[in-house]
Amino acid sequence: MIKMILDCDTGHDDAIALMVAAKHPEIDLLGVTVVAGNQTLDKTLPNTLSVCQHLGIDVPVYGGMSLPLVRDQVVPADVHGKTGLDGPVFEPLVRKPERKHAVNFLIETIMKSDGDITIVPVGPLTNIAMAIRLYPKIVTKIQRIVMMGGAVGMGNWSPAAEFNIFADPEAAHIVFNSGVPIVMMGLDLTNTALADINIIERMEGIGNKAGKLFGDIMRFTLNSQSVVGLGAGPVHDVTAVTYLVAPEIYTTIDSYVEIDISHGPSYGRTVCDINNRWKKEPNATIGMAIDLPKFWDIVEDTLRRYE
Ligand code: BDR
Ligand code: CA
Repeated sequence: MIKMILDCDTGHDDAIALMVAAKHPEIDLLGVTVVAGNQTLDKTLPNTLSVCQHLGIDVPVYGGMSLPLVRDQVVPADVHGKTGLDGPVFEPLVRKPERKHAVNFLIETIMKSDGDITIVPVGPLTNIAMAIRLYPKIVTKIQRIVMMGGAVGMGNWSPAAEFNIFADPEAAHIVFNSGVPIVMMGLDLTNTALADINIIERMEGIGNKAGKLFGDIMRFTLNSQSVVGLGAGPVHDVTAVTYLVAPEIYTTIDSYVEIDISHGPSYGRTVCDINNRWKKEPNATIGMAIDLPKFWDIVEDTLRRYE
């Protein structure tokens, strides 16, 4: 079993990443830590709990950082809606988060481990950076970080920057300079993982609650997140989770990546030296392409496991 902690800002694609991480037979999901990102924490935390409650996902959920480390908060309400997860309608929420702060959970769980835990951050990197700064010894005990964020090419929040990095560039800077092995699923790959109407109907056709929730979530994104008029929303964050169980379906390159924290027009850019101009040791493995039929098979097979 692959031990993992999901760090998310639920969020449409985050919700589906959670659904896959919680039910994949090869993944042992130890906990879910939540951060502000797609909406403020007072929305991303209940969204995460609602998904868990709705599908009976019995994994501890921890609230984390409500603000970025340095910059002013940015909230993409036009992308994920007022709630951060507009579209699905959930039952009144009774499920509660754990009392412990997400950053303390991360530190304690990693320090108690045998160094065999993968952290999968699919939102701004605030919780992870905070854990590293609060307790630097965790760095050598984190097996690796497999994250969604950044881009070799164009950004989606600014021309230069992808949202998760732009929302907390200083946190990303800490994480990319930490020495923890990083696998980065950036927009070059994730913008190809599109749930068009055929994919949505395929998942709804499973006929269980998880398939229906996939549809309710991704139908909202058809308009709000459609990639350059393709009429389909990307499931960015899910590609970080499936990498754990099927790395062979990804095409990757190793590269040195520097985060631009210079507050200029490229603030929050992942500057990827894929041609090795700087002659620096790679600090990241970057996903560039994915075998989409195999990817969707994994998603479908996993959602089928729900009642
Ligand atoms: C990332 O930002 C959010 O909108 C998504 O949840 C994803 O993590 C894509 O840029
Ligand atoms: Ca996200």
